[in-house]
Amino acid sequence: MLEDQKKIIIAIDGHSSCGKSTVAREIARKLNYIFIDTGAMYRAVTLYCLRNNIIVNGIVNTEKLVANLGNINVSFKTKPDNKQVDIWLNGENVEEEIRQLEVSQNVSPVAAVAEVRHLLVALQQEMGHAKGIVMDGRDIGTVVFPKAELKIFMTAGADVRARRRFDELTAKGVQVSYEEIKANIVERDRYDETREESPLRRADDAIVLDNSNMTREEQLEWVIDRVKNM
Ligand code: DC
Repeated sequence: MLEDQKKIIIAIDGHSSCGKSTVAREIARKLNYIFIDTGAMYRAVTLYCLRNNIIVNGIVNTEKLVANLGNINVSFKTKPDNKQVDIWLNGENVEEEIRQLEVSQNVSPVAAVAEVRHLLVALQQEMGHAKGIVMDGRDIGTVVFPKAELKIFMTAGADVRARRRFDELTAKGVQVSYEEIKANIVERDRYDETREESPLRRADDAIVLDNSNMTREEQLEWVIDRVKNM
């Protein structure tokens, strides 16, 4: 029985926009675990930078960012319905705002700053100390929890990912072009995989989940099967 199993750490890493957070959130709900979307934390720091002129014309003023780290408070709060966890930045719920394309377009260089990573990784490790957590990101199985009991590396073709993200944004009424979305995804993959500080890579002991042709239900079942077989 899933409920009787010892609580573990589930690390989900992978490419941008391949549905990591959706799967991670559903797994957490099913197992009654905490779900943490670490990308949201890097996005919140990026939003702070955009609002405070730390990023100007796509250039991050690293010195100013590092000097401001003490003023950036990022946390997660559960909604009153107890179902969703929102990200807060300095006392403000920024869950919606961090998903905007402007944040997506500026987050990679912020996530490449070593001091930013050290701060957020320490927070993430603190959140997982009692286990019973599903965390998704780029370096969870390699850096944050190298001893996680279950590591999954998720991916899907760039076209599939761009189409999904495009459909998601247009359904919300956001005006974007498919080409713009796809370019952003390809660029973020490149940036994430080639940066010096904690580049995106599959941990040696992570299992690959390519969901290009899988439904949400199939993905959930795939992960739950792995949890059951532990
Ligand atoms: O998963 P996402 O697209 O919301 O992540 C936003 C950015 O943050 C992405 O470009 C890579 C970066 N990121 C990271 O470097 N490390 C993580 N653990 C999570 C996200």
